[in-house]
Amino acid sequence: VGNKAYEETDDDFVVKMKRGNKRLAVFFGSQTGTAQEYALRLAKEAKSRFGISPLVCDPEDTELATLDRVPKDKAVIFVMATYGDGEPTENAESMISFLEDENVEFSSGGNSLENLNYAIFGLGNKTYQQFNEMARRVDKRLTELGAKRIGERGEADELLTIEAGYLDWKDDMWKAFCQRLNITEGEGAGDAADFSVAEVASAPVSSVFQGELSSHALKTSIIGEAQPGQYGPKNPYTSPVTVARELFTTNADRNCIHMELDIAGTNISYQHGDHVAIWPSSPDMAVERFLSVLGLRDKRDVAVDVTALDPALAQVPFPTPATYTSIFRHYLEISALASRQALGTLAKYAPNPRAKAMLDRWGRDKDIYAKEIEGVRIRLAEALQLATGDDPRDPTKATVWPIPFDVILSILPRQKPRYYSISSSSKLHPNTIHVTAVVLKYLTPASQLHNDNPRWIYGLTTNFLLNVMDSYDQKAAGGSAQVPIRLEGMPTTVPSYRIGGPRGAHTIPSGYAVPIHTRRAPFRLPPRQTVPIIMIGPGTGVAPFRGFVQERIALARTARERKGPNAIDDWAPMWLFYGCRRADEDFLYRDEWPGYAKELGEDKFIMHTAFSRGPARKPDGSKIYVQDLIWEQRDKLAKAIAQGAYIYICGDGLNMSREVEHTFAKIMAEYRGGTVELEGVDEVKSLKERKRFLTDTWS
Ligand code: 2AM
Repeated sequence: VGNKAYEETDDDFVVKMKRGNKRLAVFFGSQTGTAQEYALRLAKEAKSRFGISPLVCDPEDTELATLDRVPKDKAVIFVMATYGDGEPTENAESMISFLEDENVEFSSGGNSLENLNYAIFGLGNKTYQQFNEMARRVDKRLTELGAKRIGERGEADELLTIEAGYLDWKDDMWKAFCQRLNITEGEGAGDAADFSVAEVASAPVSSVFQGELSSHALKTSIIGEAQPGQYGPKNPYTSPVTVARELFTTNADRNCIHMELDIAGTNISYQHGDHVAIWPSSPDMAVERFLSVLGLRDKRDVAVDVTALDPALAQVPFPTPATYTSIFRHYLEISALASRQALGTLAKYAPNPRAKAMLDRWGRDKDIYAKEIEGVRIRLAEALQLATGDDPRDPTKATVWPIPFDVILSILPRQKPRYYSISSSSKLHPNTIHVTAVVLKYLTPASQLHNDNPRWIYGLTTNFLLNVMDSYDQKAAGGSAQVPIRLEGMPTTVPSYRIGGPRGAHTIPSGYAVPIHTRRAPFRLPPRQTVPIIMIGPGTGVAPFRGFVQERIALARTARERKGPNAIDDWAPMWLFYGCRRADEDFLYRDEWPGYAKELGEDKFIMHTAFSRGPARKPDGSKIYVQDLIWEQRDKLAKAIAQGAYIYICGDGLNMSREVEHTFAKIMAEYRGGTVELEGVDEVKSLKERKRFLTDTWS
C-alpha cells in the first residue's frame, strides 16, 4: 500500500549527501536573504569546527519526500524566517504545504520521519502576533511525524536583533548536535577559505563591473540567474527618477523625500499597498575608510576576480571582476554595525598587540561589546581604526590591517535592498512608483569617537535617496531648486549605473537612477467599494494610504465615465487618521488631500489630523495622537466596523500600532459590552483572523 517505487536521482538531496559524504543539510526559508545568510553561517561553522562539509538547500528546489531517508548519523537544520503576520516566505510555501498535508507521504510510502534528526532556528519579529510562526509550525509538524529535534528551537527576534538570537541559540545547539551524531569538536576541522581572490593586472574597463545589478551581471552571483529583461529580486531594474522633491518645509530639521521612479516599458507591475525594494550604495566616507584600513587606497580602481572554493557553502555575492571601490560601494554591506563575531575573527590580523587586545575584548565580552560598539553604532572599519588608536573622524588615515581580502568577503554580508511602502496607485500612475521616505538620522550617546560627544548616524538607503534627489534637483532646476540639508560624509556625487542589457550598452547620467524591484504585500483594499475602510498612518505610515485613496479616485473616475455622475453614491467612506508634528512643517502631501476629498465627496473621504507638537493639547497637557482622534470618532467607527469595515495600520510598530490596536479594543468593548482585556481584545483578534484588521509596520 502506498508503495511508490523509489528511485535514486542525482537531484535528490539525500543522494547528494551520501555521495558528497555530507552529514548535514541546511534548509532555509528566506525572503530577503537573511535566513539564507544564517543557513550559510551554520554550514560554514559546521565545516570549520567539526570538519563536516554540509549541503545548503533551498526548499523550493528540493524534493522533500526523501526526508525519511536521511540516516540516523546525519542531520538537517531548518532556518525559517516568518514573513509579515505569520506568513511563510515564498520559497518555503511548497515545503510547508507538503509537510502539513495530513496525507503526507514520504519516499518509502509512509508518513514517518522517525530516523530524522533536525535542529530548527526561526527568524521573526515580535511586533507581529504570530511570532516565529513558521519555525513553530515546522517544528511541531516534524515532531508529530516522529522526527527528533536536536537541542531547543531557536527563536530570534528582529527587535533584539537576529544576531543576538542566533548567538544565544547556536552554542547549545552545536553541543547537542555533537552528542547526537557522536562528533568531537576539532576533528578534521580548520578555517577553510571560502574564496580565492586574484587581482586582475589589466582588464579592459568594459569587462569590469562597476556596481551593476543587471541580469547579465548577476549570472555569477549568489542571487541566482535571471532572464534578461525580467526584473525582480534577482534582477533589479535601474529605474530613472522622474520626480524628486522635498516634502517637509524649510523650517523642519529633517528631510522627507518624495520620489517617482519610472517603470514604463518594463515587466514591473505593482498594486496599491505593495512594497518597493531599493538597492542603496554606500557613502564615500565609508568606502574610503575601508580602503584605508586595508591599505587599498592606491589600488581602488584595481579589479579583482573572486572564485568560490566551495560553491555549496559560499558563493561570490557579486559579479567579478569588479574594482575594490565598487565592491565596497555597491556590493557589500559596509555600513552595518560591527558584529561581535567579525571583531573576534579579525583579532588575529591585528597589526599590533594593543589592537589585538581590543578586538579580543569586544569579541569575547558581550557587555563590553554592547557598551563600546553596539550602543554607539560603531561600524567595522571604525572599530579597526579605534583599536589601533587612529582617529576615526579621518577616514583617510589608518594603520593598515593585513587582512586577506577573502576574509573580508567572508565576513561582510552582501548589500541588501531596503523595502518601502509604495505611495501611489498603479491605476492612477501605471508608469511610475512613488516612494515617500523620511531621511533617517539620529544621534548616538556620547562616544569616544567624537571626544565624548554624541555623533550623527545616517541611515544608508534614505540618505542615498537624499543624495540622488540632491543631484537630481541641482541638475533639473539649474541649481536653483531647494537643496536639502547636505549631510556630513555622504557622497557629493551619485555614481552612474548602466541600465540592464549587455554591459556598457547604456550609461545614464549620474544621479538619475535607482535600482529597484517590487514585492507583493498583503495590504489591499476590500474588493467592493461599498465596504467602509479605516486607515491609520501617522508620519510616513501614510504612504500606502495615499495609494489607497488614489486607487479609489481612479475607480471613481472609471465608474462615473461608465454610469454617470451618481455612480459612486453607494460607496462607503474612507477614514484617514494622520498624525505629524506640526501642520506647517511635516504634514505630508498637505496640498493633495483636499483635492481627493473634493473629487470623491466629503462624505467619502474623511481625514482627521493630529499635530502632536502643535498648539492643541489634551486637557492634561499631553500630546494629541491619532488614537485620541479615533477615540473621539468611536461611534461612527464602531458602526462602520459593524457594517464590515476594514481597518489598516501602517507606521511605527513599537508604540503607535500597539496603542491604536488597544484603542480599537476599547471601542469594541464599549460598543459590544464587556471588558477591554477580554471582549475588546478578542474582537480585534477575530477581525485580524478575518483579514479585516491589517497592519504593515516597521521598527
Ligand atoms: P511625536 O514625535 O511628537 O511624539 C509621526 O511620527 C507622528 O506620530 C508624530 O506626530 C509623533 O509624535 C507621533 N507619535 C509618536 N509616538 C506615537 C504613539 N505612541 N502613538 C501615536 N502617535 C505617535
